[in-house]
Amino acid sequence: MTAAAVSPLPMQSVLHPAGPDAHAIGVLGWTMTAAAAVIFVGVMWLVLRTWQRRGTVRTRTWIIGGGLLFPGAVLSALLLWSLVSTKDLTHTSSQAGMRVAVTAKMWWWEVRYTDPATGRDVVLANEIRVPVGRPVYLGLTTSDVIHSFWVPALAGKVDMVPGRVHGLMLHADRAGVFRGQCAEFCGAQHAKMAMHVVAMPPAEFDAWLAVQARDAAPPANAQLLRGREAFLERRCDACHVVRGVSDRALLEKATLGPDLTHVGSRLYIAAGTLPTHAGTLAGWVADPQSIKPGARMPAASDLAGEDLRAMAAWLESLK
Ligand code: CUA
Repeated sequence: MTAAAVSPLPMQSVLHPAGPDAHAIGVLGWTMTAAAAVIFVGVMWLVLRTWQRRGTVRTRTWIIGGGLLFPGAVLSALLLWSLVSTKDLTHTSSQAGMRVAVTAKMWWWEVRYTDPATGRDVVLANEIRVPVGRPVYLGLTTSDVIHSFWVPALAGKVDMVPGRVHGLMLHADRAGVFRGQCAEFCGAQHAKMAMHVVAMPPAEFDAWLAVQARDAAPPANAQLLRGREAFLERRCDACHVVRGVSDRALLEKATLGPDLTHVGSRLYIAAGTLPTHAGTLAGWVADPQSIKPGARMPAASDLAGEDLRAMAAWLESLK
């Protein structure tokens, strides 16, 4: 699935809400903007009259009317309106529907589902898939500094604070790919800390989750086998889990980098930075520091060309 095939609308936009919460926030934003525009025009009209020295107003009337009564009435009305309209935001409850745990890391997102068949954790990265029409509870936290979770088309911003779990409901009412962005400065690669929410029909979603819960498929040919060997020889599994491939003992500690069991099925690599295919995977493995300086991933620039191509092909095959 490509982003363009799913929706012709912009992927990251507060102006194209795709869920009830984003819609309520959008209406609030437009109301505030309209009220501010009316007042701005009124003030400019008064300035014009003053320039033309037309009409006189008593100082007392001006200060009490324009300085106290008018802003008091306008601000009270807008405050009341904002309270009423944000009351419609979905009540956050970890008891309602599906739960997904999202942990922000410098500079990517660990995404954790529960396999409905076995009850085991299914660890993914940088892509959150949700069923259309079903509310999803996100438990948001971080393993290092403060980050902020923001997918403008679906919900408001929520900070991700060390030692705390903040809840957020994601509710998509149409299928599509919605880009999100870390919204709190968190270091050198804050700008390249994006993620994608993919809303899909419930039946498709269930099938997708069942596939993601599986171990990696065995290599189908000699080149893919060579790629898997190169991955293990380079000890990539010290930081990355590939379920069914990496050594079990190492697996528990290997959370420094994203889980790669199904990396080939994701739309993007490196937290929304590059579209996923063998070419970008090879470029990233060979020299991640030139793409995302400061990322924890070391370069594998001395890897033989054939091994690099094989590894990239194998990673791409992990659908
Ligand atoms: Cu994470 Cu900014």
